[in-house]
Amino acid sequence: MTTALITGANKGLGFETARRLVEAGHAVYVGARDAHRGREAATRLGARFVQLDVTDEDSVKAAAEIVRADAGRLDVLVNNAGIAGARKLGRVGEVTGADMMTTYDTNVFGVVRVTHAFLPLLEAGDAPVVVNVGSGLGSVAATTDPSRVEFRVTVLDYNSSKTALVMVTSQYAKAYPAIRFNAVDPGYTATDLNGHQGSQTVEEGAEIIVRMASIGADGPTGGFFDKAGPVAW
Ligand SMILES: NC(=O)c1ccc[n+]([C@@H]2O[C@H](COP(=O)([O-])OP(=O)(O)OC[C@H]3O[C@@H](n4cnc5c(N)ncnc54)[C@H](OP(=O)(O)O)[C@@H]3O)[C@@H](O)[C@H]2O)c1
Repeated sequence: MTTALITGANKGLGFETARRLVEAGHAVYVGARDAHRGREAATRLGARFVQLDVTDEDSVKAAAEIVRADAGRLDVLVNNAGIAGARKLGRVGEVTGADMMTTYDTNVFGVVRVTHAFLPLLEAGDAPVVVNVGSGLGSVAATTDPSRVEFRVTVLDYNSSKTALVMVTSQYAKAYPAIRFNAVDPGYTATDLNGHQGSQTVEEGAEIIVRMASIGADGPTGGFFDKAGPVAW
């Protein structure tokens, strides 16, 4: 049985991804920063709970130690935890350095904290795979193309954090050719992140996350994908 960990899996796209990976027969760790919400989600899913706040180095290290002691390896890591940030849509000039630090702390540095802590377990894994949950709003190509919906969403902190995440993914992919590292765009999905304004269901949004979490050793690495295939950065 393969072992999978999803960060921010107590709700939204992370929860649905965890549900699908449990269904596919993986031993799944539901990572959540809040123990009550995380335990409840894990119980509903028939998964294991691990406390994991991606902004807290000690919490991330403790989670890696729990998975190491339990399973000795990790086959699938889904870096899903993310925040919308300062929510200053169109008000680029109002975004502060502190806003950027807060958003990046979860959406970028959090992914690096988790990946760094779990790399030894991934290297011990069977055809290990990492999926970083990005966004079309992080695509320079999409956000500068007037024909795309992403063109109309001008947000300094969230969008640029997701752009950084694609490059972070690409650099890990080059450094660790034995691990499949890919970024994905789930598409605009109704979750708490956007006040449930998204046009897709979580089942639809999680599809590309689950697909890229399920690739084998011969699958792509260093790419950025949505449900239709490779995405232009
Ligand atoms: N929904 C969309 O349209 C959309 C589109 C593109 C990309 N995405 C990306 O998809 C991912 C999942 O978002 P979602 O839409 O499912 O939003 P969501 O329902 O708000 O879920 C976000 C999850 O991340 C967790 N989280 C936030 N900060 C955390 C931290 N410091 N440590 C650990 N967990 C943390 C949340 O935990 P709490 O419950 O404790 O807050 C929650 O479980 C995010 O990376 C988001 O940027 C979403």
